[in-house]
This record gives sequence, C-alpha cells and structure tokens, in this order.
Amino acid sequence: MSLTGTISTNSPNSTKDILRDAFTQCRQTTLKQFAELDNAAFCCQSHPEFSPAGWHLGHIGFTEELWLLRHLAGTSPMQPQFHRLYAADGLPKTERVNLPSFEETCDYLQRIRDEVFHYLDVAPIEEQKPLWWFILQHESQHSETVALVLQQQNLSALPFSKPGSNSQLEFDSVTVPGGEFEMGNDGVEAADNERPRHRRFVEEFQIDRYPVTCGQYRQFIEAGGYDKRQYWSEAGWQWLHENGISQQLYWTNNPEFDNYPVCGVSWYEANAYAQFVGKRLPTEAEWEKAARCNPQTGESYAYPWGNDFPDASRCNHRLFNRGTTPVDAYPDGVSPVGCWDMLGNVWEWTATTFEGYSGFDFFPYPGYSQAYFDGNHYVLRGGSWATRPWALRTAFRNWYYPHIRQIFSGFRLCV
Ligand code: AVJ
Ligand code: FE
Repeated sequence: MSLTGTISTNSPNSTKDILRDAFTQCRQTTLKQFAELDNAAFCCQSHPEFSPAGWHLGHIGFTEELWLLRHLAGTSPMQPQFHRLYAADGLPKTERVNLPSFEETCDYLQRIRDEVFHYLDVAPIEEQKPLWWFILQHESQHSETVALVLQQQNLSALPFSKPGSNSQLEFDSVTVPGGEFEMGNDGVEAADNERPRHRRFVEEFQIDRYPVTCGQYRQFIEAGGYDKRQYWSEAGWQWLHENGISQQLYWTNNPEFDNYPVCGVSWYEANAYAQFVGKRLPTEAEWEKAARCNPQTGESYAYPWGNDFPDASRCNHRLFNRGTTPVDAYPDGVSPVGCWDMLGNVWEWTATTFEGYSGFDFFPYPGYSQAYFDGNHYVLRGGSWATRPWALRTAFRNWYYPHIRQIFSGFRLCV
C-alpha cells in the first residue's frame, strides 16, 4: 500500500531504481545542510541532549554501512577506527566532539554509498526491501536532527519564513465519529513501531482544525500562564523552574506570525496550555484517526489527502520553506474530517506514552524502538517543516522525553 505502491503505480521504475533515486535525493538535502558550516559549528555540541551536526553525518554513513554492507552484503568494516565514534551505543554524547573534518566525513559517506549502489545492482531486493527503507528513513531522521541542532546555534533560518495568510482564522474543532478505524502500517516502509496494522476503537471526539498558533499561545503567556502553578503538572512546574522557562523556544513577538504554529514546546508546556483553555491533548489513536480516516468509507489513507506521495503542494516539509508556515497555508493537505496541517510544519505532541502495539516485533534491532517503551517517552505525530517525505505519513510515530523542546514541536487540542 501507500508509499511504494503509490510510486510504482505512478512510474514504470523498478524497486531498485526507486531506492537509488530516493537515497540520492535524501543525501543531497542532507549535504546541503552542511554547505556553509565552519568546523567549529560542525563539531559543536549545542545542547546536552543532542550530538554535534558532524556526528550525525558520520553516524548516517556508519549505519548505512553497518546494515546494507556489513549485514546484507557481508563485507568487513571499511574504517574500523570509526566504529566506537559513530555507533549509537559507542561514545557518550559529550565525547562526540572530536570529529573527522567535513571533507573526510563526506569522503567516508561517499565510499560507502558507492559500494552500496554497486551492491544494489545484485542484491535480492524483494527480501531485503524493509532494511533499505529503514536506512533511508534513518538518514531522513538524523538529517532532521541536524536541522534542529543547527537551529540551536542560530544557523538555520528558523523560526519563521514565507509570510502567508494574515486571515482571521476560525479556531473551531471538527467532530470525529466514534467507531473502529485502521491504525498502524504494514507497508514495506513501516517502522517496527507502526506494526502491526490493526483495528482500533475510538469514542467520538472533537479535535481542533488547526495546531495551536503563536497568536493563541501569546494569550497564555500574557495571562501569566508560566507563573501560575494551577496550569502545570508537578513535573512540569519543577522543569519550568529548574530551567527558568517563560515562553516557547522558537518565539517571536511579531504579530505577523500569529497564524504560525507554536514551535519549540515541551510536552509539559503543551499540557499547561491545554489546562489554560480547558482542553486536552489527543491520544495518538485520536490523532491518527483524525489525520487519515475517511468516515464516509471507513478507509484509512497513508496521508491526510489520500495516498499520493507528499510534494510541496500538500504540506510544509523537506526544508522547502526553511521554517514554519501559517497553519492554513495548505488547503490541499486537509484530512477527510477537515483538519489542516496534520503533516509537516510542526510535530504534534500526544497524550500517549510510547509503547509497542499488540503483536510488536522489533526491527531491525531492539534498540530502535523497544528500548524506549519505558513509559517515559511521549509520542509525537505528523512531522515538521524539516521532515523528509520518506519519514512523513499519518502512521509514523516519533517519541521524546516530555522535557524536550529543541525539536520542532507544537500541538493541537481535543475537547
Ligand atoms: C525516533 C527521532 C527519536 O533520532 O533518536 C535514529 C530515531 N533511532 N537512529 C532518534 C533514530 C536511531 C530517533 N527518533
Ligand atoms: Fe541513528
């Protein structure tokens, strides 16, 4: 279904051609993010929770080699001295700052990529496809992390770009009828945590048409929301005070951006705002149903607009706009029940902790998802302006600790 199905019906290309093309496109965008960086920025750990941009680049290559060359093709390590540095379970983040230069790293990545493409010519792709899609999405996700790491160093164009509508938005909610829907994903591109696809019952609920905007959130700030204990959970209040926080991270006070989504909030802030307005975060099942289920037919689409692969007309992703856009900028991306901006622009926090669906099986290793089924991570949905299209779909699940706000995170609310 969805991703590969859509592509192969639209083009005569083989799976191998599609993969080669997607890998090449993804790499181009990855490298473009490094174009104007000096070595200090390349090696800088801008935030204790995130590794330097240059580490992510090396780790992208390392992981591609590990799974596609060493694991599938059976080759031996190309640069064994890089193993400890770039393995996910190697050095602690604080020690990932002594890095090979950008040129050396590019060279490493290119040599791996050349071998990967040679191997692709002869690989038994039908049985291997899931791992190839995994690697493409692995690079997609680390490249998004590069964007947010650079943002911490003020090296991206965030927070705001492409002035859009200054229209008076009607902040209403839509009703999603109660009943079962098809949740999750068993397509070839599905991450382990999206499987198995299953039927899920959800009671009728109301969900906001748009993500919460900067204009709406300003009212919370101006009402002293960050000083009023009653809106905050105990953990949230403690986090606020330990970190001296009084506004969202990616914030401008310019009313020109009132129709842009709030970006750079923790799960705690999303919940405090919800308390302030007397609403709540959606569960992830509610979010997914509102994003993909057509209540007329009962069908679940891969994307809010149907099953066509994302392009620039559908939503703000792939760094197309180098920042967020107004929440009503994409009429061609609206979901069947009438929710705007479900994919792209900002990730949306949900009320749900990250767990495996019933029948979960890890792929390709337990450390990918299963290690985070600890009740301490919350699910985000929908992708951001920096998400690559290969990791953007209604079933895709992201997860972070509730105090993380450096990601491009916003939220929408339920009644
Ligand atoms: C799903 C984005 C939280 O970046 O830590 C990358 C994805 N896992 N390499 C992360 C991931 C292993 C993961 N997130
Ligand atoms: Fe990784």
